[in-house]
Order: sequence, then C-alpha cells, then structure tokens
Amino acid sequence: MRILSGIQPTGELHIGNYLGAIKQWLELQKNHECVFPIVDLHAITVPYNPKDLQKNIIETAISYLALGLDPEKSIIFVQSKIKEHTELSWLLNTITPLSELERMTQYKEKSRQFKKNLNAGLLNYPILMAADILLYQTDLVPVGKDQEQHLELTRVIAKKFNNRFGKTFKDPKALIPKEGAKIMALNNPKKKMSKSLGPQAYLSLFADPKEIQKKIMSAVTDPGKTIKYDPKKKPGISNLLIIFSLFSSKSIKELEKKFKNKGYAEFKKELVNLLILKLEPFRRKKKGLESREVYVREILFQNTKKAQVLASSTMEEVRKNMGLI
Ligand code: AMP
Ligand code: TRP
Repeated sequence: MRILSGIQPTGELHIGNYLGAIKQWLELQKNHECVFPIVDLHAITVPYNPKDLQKNIIETAISYLALGLDPEKSIIFVQSKIKEHTELSWLLNTITPLSELERMTQYKEKSRQFKKNLNAGLLNYPILMAADILLYQTDLVPVGKDQEQHLELTRVIAKKFNNRFGKTFKDPKALIPKEGAKIMALNNPKKKMSKSLGPQAYLSLFADPKEIQKKIMSAVTDPGKTIKYDPKKKPGISNLLIIFSLFSSKSIKELEKKFKNKGYAEFKKELVNLLILKLEPFRRKKKGLESREVYVREILFQNTKKAQVLASSTMEEVRKNMGLI
C-alpha cells in the first residue's frame, strides 16, 4: 500500500498535528511505502512573508526527522520541487465542479478570515491537494478530521477523471484516527487547536518544560471538579483527557479512575510531567539537527529524485489519456 500525507510549512508543529496525523505516519512507515511532501504551495494561499516561508520549509523538514520520520523508508520532499503537482492540479481544474469547491468548510472559513485577500488559490486549494494524492497512486491518506471533506472531494475528482478518460488513478481512502482526530485549542476547547488562534491555543511539539507547564496549567477547564470525559458538558477537561490518554497509552476509563477524587490542578500537574517526558526526545533531536542544515537539504534533494520518478510516471499516463500528445 502507498501512503501519502502533507503538512503546510507555516511554523511550529503542535500536538494536534502529532495526534491527528504524524503519530499514524510513524506507525505506517514501518510497513508501507510512504510519501510525505512539505506542502509549500498550499501555504502561499494566505498572506505570508517569503523569508519566513523559506525558514519554515527547512524547519518542517528538521521537525519531520526529529519526530522519527525515516528518509530511508519514507519519501520526504518539498512539494514545489516537483512541477507535476502544479501541472496535474491545472488539469484536474478542468473537471472539478465549482459548486463542490464553494461548499468546502475550510474555504468558507478562510474566505471569511481573509475577506480582503480572497484569491483563487484559496478556492482551488483542494484541487492541488487532490493532485498531491493522485499523482502518487495513493491508497491511504492519514489526516486529522478537518481534512476528511477534502479527501471526499479528491475521490470525486478521481472518479470523474477515470470515467471520462479511462482508469488512470487509484481510489484513495482517508485514515482518520478514532481518537485525537480533532484536538481542541487549550484556551478555547470549542475550537480546533490551530496556530491561527494564537500562541495560547496550541502546544508546540518542541516546547521546553517551562512552556509546557505554562500552557497546560493555564489551559481552560470547566465548572465543577470531577475529572470525567464528557465532551459536551466538559470540553476542556475532555480534551486534556484525550491528550493524556494518547501520550500515556492509558485508556480514558483508566485515567478517570486514577483521578477519581483528585482535582484539576493535580491532574494537570501529572499531564505536565507526562508531556515533559514524552516531548523531551523530540526537542533534543531537533536541537541536534538545527546545526546540520546541509545534511537536511541533502536528504530533501535525494528524496525529491525518488518522488520525481513516481510523479513522472503518473503524469505520462495522464497526458496520454487526456489526449495531450
Ligand atoms: P496543517 O497544520 O493544517 O497543515 O495540518 C496538518 C495535519 O495535522 C493534517 O492532517 C490535519 O488534519 C492535522 N491537524 C491539524 N490540526 C489538528 C488538530 N487540532 N487535531 C488533530 N489533527 C490536526
Ligand atoms: N490540506 C492539508 C492541511 O491543511 C495539507 C495537505 C496538502 C495534505 N496536500 C495534502 C494532506 C495531501 C494530505 C494529503 O492539513
């Protein structure tokens, strides 16, 4: 099976990215062929600073390696280095219904957020994502819940293409974790954890102990005292319970029992200790890689060559089937 998933290089990765997506990637790379583009062309659909983008691309590559993605097993590269992504994206444009794009939740949210800078790229974003996936004949796409709708559209596009031009693409499926698919913001547990909500909303995967302590101890909780999983009535504590459970491999039931007659402060303190322990190796590894940028760039370069072979092969078929020769 071939696996593909991408993350936008927009700054620090957070525990939501890890629990929703990257944790699955690490498991999958053990036994499958994995492709993990750093999707810089998606990141430029909202206002950005070119210098920051360059820094963030390398930073994301370093983060991937620090988290345990293995460039000998998985293909890690920068999306814009393979021109076939944009080529296929244009071709898929011509068969994608406008109405499908307009009803995407992410588009609706972002077009509200960036009212003054509403560019066509924001609308066409899911087509580029479909191109990423279909270009590599992907079977499984491990992502968080927020990407489910884009995956459904990818499948619609693949089917439409195959019906119109003959079987060219595989039918990719989303792989969304049962728990952790939507980690909520620490300062507002009714919203998805995301960098765009500001630094208080998320916990970086590379946070130091002081920062972990500060963010978790000030995380919003709910009225009452009991440590109980109830996302509707207790969204704050439920979110922290999910985080605790996934980082400790203990079930929520076990944790509820363990903290039965204990208060929020004690629960949070233990969560702080757990996160310090679990995130420390990531931070240490990242620090070591930060002074080895040449090595990281070489890895990207070598992996781009591997991705190019796969991309060229699909594109040849696409061009032929569409009558472009
Ligand atoms: P992004 O940072 O938007 O490029 O997202 C990268 C990956 O992380 C995607 O697979 C998302 O679905 C996943 N992701 C982002 N935020 C969260 C979250 N709060 N909870 C779970 N998964 C998330
Ligand atoms: N749209 C995804 C996000 O915002 C990132 C992405 C781009 C992606 N291309 C992809 C994810 C292909 C999975 C597969 O999180």
